[in-house]
Amino acid sequence: METILKNDLILRAARGENIERYPVWLMRQAGRILPEYRAVRSSLSGFKELVETPKYAAEVTIQPVDILGVDAAIIFSDILVVPEAMGLEYQMIEQKGPWFEKTIKSEADLHLAEVDFDIEDRLGYVLEAIKLTNKELNGRVPLIGFAGAPWTIFCYMVEGKGSKTFSESRKMLYTNPTLSHQLLDRITNVTIKYLKAQIKAGAHMLQLFDSWAGILGTDQYREFSLKYIQKIADAINEVPLTIFSKGAINSLEEIALSKCNTIGLDWNMDIAEFRSKIGETRTIQGNLDPCALYSTHTQIESLTNNLLDSFTSKRHIVNLGHGVYPDVDPDKVKTFINTVKQYNIKY
Ligand code: CP3
Repeated sequence: METILKNDLILRAARGENIERYPVWLMRQAGRILPEYRAVRSSLSGFKELVETPKYAAEVTIQPVDILGVDAAIIFSDILVVPEAMGLEYQMIEQKGPWFEKTIKSEADLHLAEVDFDIEDRLGYVLEAIKLTNKELNGRVPLIGFAGAPWTIFCYMVEGKGSKTFSESRKMLYTNPTLSHQLLDRITNVTIKYLKAQIKAGAHMLQLFDSWAGILGTDQYREFSLKYIQKIADAINEVPLTIFSKGAINSLEEIALSKCNTIGLDWNMDIAEFRSKIGETRTIQGNLDPCALYSTHTQIESLTNNLLDSFTSKRHIVNLGHGVYPDVDPDKVKTFINTVKQYNIKY
């Protein structure tokens, strides 16, 4: 039987329904900012053991709910579990980030991006973690599931590691658009199946992270990223969907035409301006600069109040403009969260 949610603010905000106050959570809230996370993490062999062991993944997913008081949990996992399930194993190297031994560089490599496999079989550990988290949360807050947007996953599958420019990936768009589309199509198909499996396991809402959207020009973004995001948005109707396309500042209105509920904005984007363009058609998520959390408690309060004062609608989910940085003081995060919770909504 499905547990009744005691706090469903974020789901109501996503659907454009009535809310008593703005809901708040942080991208990357389950992670290194919390000493409690670092304690669990250091007792294990590495990041992947944490991701792949539902008991531990559930524990660190719930930590920010208990410690920070956020209005949603986000399942502890990574966007890179998808390319791995498709056939490209990754390692998370300490202080450096992800590294893939094999990459996709030509048609001959395409067999390394499998589509027809059983999600339960290869990603069952994420689905188990979702079930266990909901059991332990017992309806306190909704649980957010997620995946990387196809373009961002493509970047890692082609490049094999992080990059400032992802020039290998962008090169392929020019030199082999056919292969690029084939790979993006495969990632999209797997992502839809994976997100549907997360819903079935109990995810109450979903977010697509297009972290590398901002490195594409507007036309290429439309052809190689947004097209596939739209395909995913068309396929997901069961729960609210958020699209966070970091840096896609010139494509926001087009993104807002996708069949999603919420658009995430990064801190370079202007909430009031975007609201005036899209009206009340979508919920907006964001967008305090993650670096604002390095300022004083008083500054954080006033910056947060200024952000909320700029809203002219109920259709908001408050968040940072990108993931919280690992060395931010959790007490500063609490100040941000408590300021949002104490704010009197005007609409
Ligand atoms: O938001 C959450 O709290 C849930 C967990 C989550 C992680 N990664 C855990 C993680 C989520 C939603 C992600 C998404 C993710 N992963 C993105 C998209 C969001 C974004 O930040 O733009 C991307 C691009 C990745 C890929 C990734 N994972 C990189 C490049 C790295 C290394 C850099 C870094 O942040 O350390 C990771 C590692 C990672 N994923 C960590 C965590 C907590 C740190 C690893 C550790 O604890 O040692």
